Amino acid sequence: MAKKILVTGSNGLIGSEVCVYFARRGFKVHGMDNNQRAVFFGPEGDTRWNQRRLQSATPGFSHHELDIRNRAGVEELVKGIAPGLVVHTAAQPSHDRAAAIPFDDFDTNAVGTLNLIEACRRHCRDAAFVHMSTNKVYGDGPNRLPLVELDKRWDYADHHKEHGIPENFQVDQCLHSLFGASKLASDVVVQEYGRYFGMPTCCLRGGCLTGPNHSGVQLHGFLSYLVKCNLEGAEYTVFGYKGKQVRDNIHSEDVAGFIHRFYLKPRCGAVYNLGGGKENSCSILEAFEIVEGISGRRQKFAYVDQNRVGDHICYYSDLRKMKEHYPGWAVTRSLPQIMEESVKAWHERLKA
Ligand SMILES: NC(=O)c1ccc[n+]([C@@H]2O[C@H](COP(=O)([O-])OP(=O)(O)OC[C@H]3O[C@@H](n4cnc5c(N)ncnc54)[C@H](O)[C@@H]3O)[C@@H](O)[C@H]2O)c1
Repeated sequence: MAKKILVTGSNGLIGSEVCVYFARRGFKVHGMDNNQRAVFFGPEGDTRWNQRRLQSATPGFSHHELDIRNRAGVEELVKGIAPGLVVHTAAQPSHDRAAAIPFDDFDTNAVGTLNLIEACRRHCRDAAFVHMSTNKVYGDGPNRLPLVELDKRWDYADHHKEHGIPENFQVDQCLHSLFGASKLASDVVVQEYGRYFGMPTCCLRGGCLTGPNHSGVQLHGFLSYLVKCNLEGAEYTVFGYKGKQVRDNIHSEDVAGFIHRFYLKPRCGAVYNLGGGKENSCSILEAFEIVEGISGRRQKFAYVDQNRVGDHICYYSDLRKMKEHYPGWAVTRSLPQIMEESVKAWHERLKA
């Protein structure tokens, strides 16, 4: 019998990549989404195109139209499928959007995660459970590190410069945004189901996860949105930090690859920082240069001398723990490769 996977948020960037990745490996894939991204971000956040892509081109894929906040519905779905792997990507994903929709944000991110993992405890407690967490669980703590200002980017001025931010970095007593708070709540809940109930759970604290299937918007998915602006000749707004703020970027397929390794050799209550690491890091100014080199078009931008509340000045993930626990895993796509794919995908989508 085919192995079964349940993917929440399957219309989204990570969810859809995970669906394709596991379908190719013979899994029966159950996706669950309700296109809430279009409610959070308006028509530009609409993910139905990606759902249609999965339904038409992914063998064995079934879509389930369901809201993660629907506790009874989620329990019924989990019970009916009894998956061997659950990948939870459904979320309100924006730091900035959360302040305007605090209940929707917390009910989706924190309570939705509880709905799902408790349903798993009741009906498939041996299933590997992978939760997409975020580096925003560290709040603005990384901004307190000593930094050095370089020509085009900020960097750490202490030992973090070598490998980036590790998993034991302090998570509390700092500014998170309501998004960071709801995600930290879900992160701790998932760890607890691992430690308290002994379930095979994993939290992946993402840096910038990106790839060709992101429906990037101003408030979420900076690299995808930046590429879209470049191709459309639209103005990209840079918020503060002189455009030198640094992010580490990882292709969604490398995320799926790690999830596969965790599934094959799960641990209980695991936590990893997942991003492109220092090698795949860039500032916004550096990202402009890369995309201009690929598309041949100048990037228009406006600068607002006010950073987003609690936004990281410099963040890249320390990947050593992941690599030590799962030695076969590595980042396989360089930043220019990721951006080339994104340029190609946006070309197609803007034509359609
Ligand atoms: N993309 C990133 O840079 C990044 C970085 C760090 C963490 N993460 C985390 O990874 C996960 C996936 O991110 P993504 O970039 O794929 O986001 P995404 O917005 O592309 O995908 C999330 C999907 O969840 C769906 N969804 C939202 N609310 C829902 C609800 N109430 N019920 C059912 N479905 C719902 C949306 O419609 C969307 O298709 C999120 O938990 C996010 O916080 C992402």
